Amino acid sequence: MRIVLVGPPGAGKGTQAALLAENLGIPHISTGDLFRANIRQGTELGRRAQEYMREGRLVPDEVTIGMAADRMAAPDAESGFLLDGFPRNLPQAEALDKLLGETGVALDAVLDLEVPEDEVVRRIAGRRICREDSGHLFHTEYSKPRVEGVCDVCGGELYQREDDREDTVRKRLEVYHLETEPIIGHYRDQGLVVTIPALGAVPEVTRRALAALPHRT
Ligand code: AP5
Ligand code: ZN
Repeated sequence: MRIVLVGPPGAGKGTQAALLAENLGIPHISTGDLFRANIRQGTELGRRAQEYMREGRLVPDEVTIGMAADRMAAPDAESGFLLDGFPRNLPQAEALDKLLGETGVALDAVLDLEVPEDEVVRRIAGRRICREDSGHLFHTEYSKPRVEGVCDVCGGELYQREDDREDTVRKRLEVYHLETEPIIGHYRDQGLVVTIPALGAVPEVTRRALAALPHRT
């Protein structure tokens, strides 16, 4: 199954993507996580991405599309994947269409996580992530770690993302409305969009998303 997850920053894409990917047995591919891993490792790509991420702007397409395409070409993504945070503008969506067309495969669904803006701001303000693995996600109210500041999964230190500061969050929301929302129209024209109300407990949202997916063969 090939799925794209869209939604504003803080909608719960990373949270749901990890659970859905595990349930469906497909890799979770997050361009945000790939950039953060590159920053942590001090790569050239990470250095380029960091200046944009810090300001809440999109990393240029020529960097992002190649990185996403490489990841999708890995053996574990051959029979499917769940994309989180990619594509994020129309040129990226068109590049993905082309890439899939060349390999003779197609997307099965685009899940649009719908969350009111005040809730998104609350989710981002309380988010804490693990230094060792940005897939280990917590929230100061909604999903507290057992020991404050320490990751339940691996014992790593929890911290607040640099781009989760209030002014950067405002910029990220603006970029979402301007650049990312138009891809929903693009995929609606292809009949792929399913809107998932994403307020409520994490497992409940996962259940809604699984129920909305086209039947698996
Ligand atoms: P990215 O890492 O993709 O960030 P984002 O899209 O802004 O999304 P977030 O990670 O902020 O939120 P999320 O929806 O995953 O929510 P989460 O599950 O963490 O991108 C970061 C930057 O990288 C971009 O700004 C850009 O610069 C760059 N970038 C990435 N991809 C790019 C691309 N394709 N092109 C160009 N640039 C790109 O949840 C948030 C919090 O809420 C957590 O604390 C969680 O525990 C909590 N939570 C989740 N669900 C619930 C629930 N149901 N109830 C209560 N709390 C919940
Ligand atoms: Zn951890």
